[in-house]
Amino acid sequence: MRTFEQSNLLKSLPTQFFATLVGKVNKVIEQGHDVINLGQGNPDQPTPDHIVKALQEAATNPIHHKYSQFRGQKFLKDAIVAYYKREYGVELDAEKQVAILFGGKAGLVEVPQCLLNEGETVLVPDPGYPDYWSGVELAKAKMELMPLKAENQFLPDYKELDTDILEKAKLMFLNYPNNPTGAIATKEFFEETVHLANKHNICVVHDFAYGAIGFDGKKPLSFLQTEGAIETGIEIYTLSKTYNMAGWRVGFAVGNESVIEAINLLQDHMYVSLFGAIQEAAAHALLSSQECVDHLVQTYESRRDTFISELHAMGWKVEAPAGSFFAWLPVPEGFTSVSFSDYLLEKAHVVVAPGVGFGKFGEGYVRVGLLTNEERLTEAVSRIKRLNLF
Ligand SMILES: Cc1ncc(COP(=O)(O)O)c(C=O)c1O
Repeated sequence: MRTFEQSNLLKSLPTQFFATLVGKVNKVIEQGHDVINLGQGNPDQPTPDHIVKALQEAATNPIHHKYSQFRGQKFLKDAIVAYYKREYGVELDAEKQVAILFGGKAGLVEVPQCLLNEGETVLVPDPGYPDYWSGVELAKAKMELMPLKAENQFLPDYKELDTDILEKAKLMFLNYPNNPTGAIATKEFFEETVHLANKHNICVVHDFAYGAIGFDGKKPLSFLQTEGAIETGIEIYTLSKTYNMAGWRVGFAVGNESVIEAINLLQDHMYVSLFGAIQEAAAHALLSSQECVDHLVQTYESRRDTFISELHAMGWKVEAPAGSFFAWLPVPEGFTSVSFSDYLLEKAHVVVAPGVGFGKFGEGYVRVGLLTNEERLTEAVSRIKRLNLF
């Protein structure tokens, strides 16, 4: 077969750190071991029935067999507006302040290409979701890291950032509830962010992928609830986690009109919008009873409580996450995040994600996804306990 060479752009993309981990895990599975995989972020439960039924019905409607509206259906944008009003008290204009996305990932990767020229600066949280890096690289932009440290509750300390970097920065990514640390943002932090972004003319992109998942009765804040935020940037939301719809690829961006227009314009050149029946089911998910979401949050909270209390009982000093479905655990002395993950895989057949895969400030931690039932989580803890590390 003739091999066609990849473009320089493609060759410049960051290598997928976690692909190596998948390779190692598969080897252990092939050896016939019962592996407990807590290394990934894929929701383990099915989409609620009423949403699946809405898709089934909508799929028979011939109107959806034609090309959809280029920029997404009005009924979905109206549902998003109603959702933000109901959940967060935020008023949005359906035509000017909402863009439909093929999942949150697509929007996160598109935004740098929409707003940045070669060499321009983006502020990125470290540790952080690796897809931010891909978008920055595709735009040929330059990444400056904002360390997320335990002593600052995993919020960036803006005072640590050099003024000249802040002056150069055009874009900033934030993500709360946070992947991988499980931290949530405060009202004061978002206010400080709006102030800083306005002062330095930075567009804020708040990734709200885990917006529905807050524990101990605390509902995570939308960035757009902050005064002035709607002028300062956008929020990217996804139905993947809230409704266990990761395979459906539905998300949206809301906020600053000029950014929404830029996203829509880029998407005009790349796609026609999502399958209309998926848009109909997505609108149904946002507008119908949210009991399924309450139930999901209770499930994750109960898993968190079981898992964390068992780790404490073993003597592993860890903090319980305040939101998301991840726990961020410090590795025992003498290990790096990779050597500890390898050790757990080899000796306990438990998979965790090494923190360094999320950036250099992730070193010293591993990420656990609470994405299996409590019995399996308990089994994972028992296996780790037998290693006598704590
Ligand atoms: C922090 C964060 N942002 C965005 C996404 C993207 O989700 P999706 O593309 O399914 O909407 C994920 C998915 O794992 C995530 O963890």
